[in-house]
Amino acid sequence: MTRKIALTGIKPSGTPHIGNYLGMIRPALELAQKHQALYFIADYHALTTIKDGSTLKHLTYEVAATWLALGLNPDEVIFFRQSDIPEVLELTWVLACFTPKGLLNRAHAYKSEVDANISAGRSPDEGINAGLFSYPVLMAADILLYGSQYVPVGLDQKQHIEIARDIATAFNSTYGDILNIPEGVIREEVMIIPGLDGRKMSKSYQNVIPIFSTSKELRKQVMRIVTDSRPPEEPKDPEGDNVFKIYRHFAPAEAVEQMRQRYIRGGLAYSEIKGELYQLLEDHFGGARNKYNQLMNDRDRLNRLLLNGAEKARKIAIPMMVRIRKAIGVD
Ligand code: TRP
Repeated sequence: MTRKIALTGIKPSGTPHIGNYLGMIRPALELAQKHQALYFIADYHALTTIKDGSTLKHLTYEVAATWLALGLNPDEVIFFRQSDIPEVLELTWVLACFTPKGLLNRAHAYKSEVDANISAGRSPDEGINAGLFSYPVLMAADILLYGSQYVPVGLDQKQHIEIARDIATAFNSTYGDILNIPEGVIREEVMIIPGLDGRKMSKSYQNVIPIFSTSKELRKQVMRIVTDSRPPEEPKDPEGDNVFKIYRHFAPAEAVEQMRQRYIRGGLAYSEIKGELYQLLEDHFGGARNKYNQLMNDRDRLNRLLLNGAEKARKIAIPMMVRIRKAIGVD
């Protein structure tokens, strides 16, 4: 039996941080044990916002090196760059012709920009490019081109999966069962990892702990996590503390429990748990950091790995595109 395909796209829009690691990278690497995984860097999606070539390129390499350093095995996972697959743009146009425009009007990312314009008294589409408007169609093409069965994503992408299903259904009802209807694997338990200031860790808040900074930088970032000002002797609330909320994901269960007790009993200085958290992160990522740095210093190797992945992905994409062209009458 052939394995089912699990596919996801990673938008290279910022330096990967430990919120990305816990929320996306680690679960996706686990899923890749069970299915044939196709994971790709969605650089064309990032183009809707990143308009500087060297930035986009650098972020693409950072994402690639991060996943590889953290254990993605390119012999098992088909790992590639979206822009190396010309078929995906071809399919985007075909699918656009099956996408009701009203469906895209209601897509959250576009709609929230329109709403922001309207409430600021600007004209509705001011500053909005058609790439942002068509974003869900490109994403549907990403998914449908490879016959994907499972699409692991965060809750924010749920609507995009539904749009892909709608488009596939519309296409199939005209031409027969050509496209597979994908299922989202939605991580509902949105794991909210707090950033340095206690808000959700996110590059837009500039409160992130990058996965691969230097060990000195890492320590500095951990020490900057905001806590309340209770002195060591006073009992503290573990569940309400930002350091504990990160610590609990990296320490072994037993250590987490002991730490919880130390909070409740009192006698723990925040600087102590910060020291322990730093050490845990250093132990967890220190080894991978070397691999990451080596990859970042060897762009040729990264390019080779990604092109190799693209070649494998196209072995699936090309026959699919042949069938689609034939069905619509452009073969
Ligand atoms: N839009 C997704 C995101 O931001 C990235 C993405 C692009 C994607 N194409 C995809 C995810 C296909 C899953 C499947 O985060």
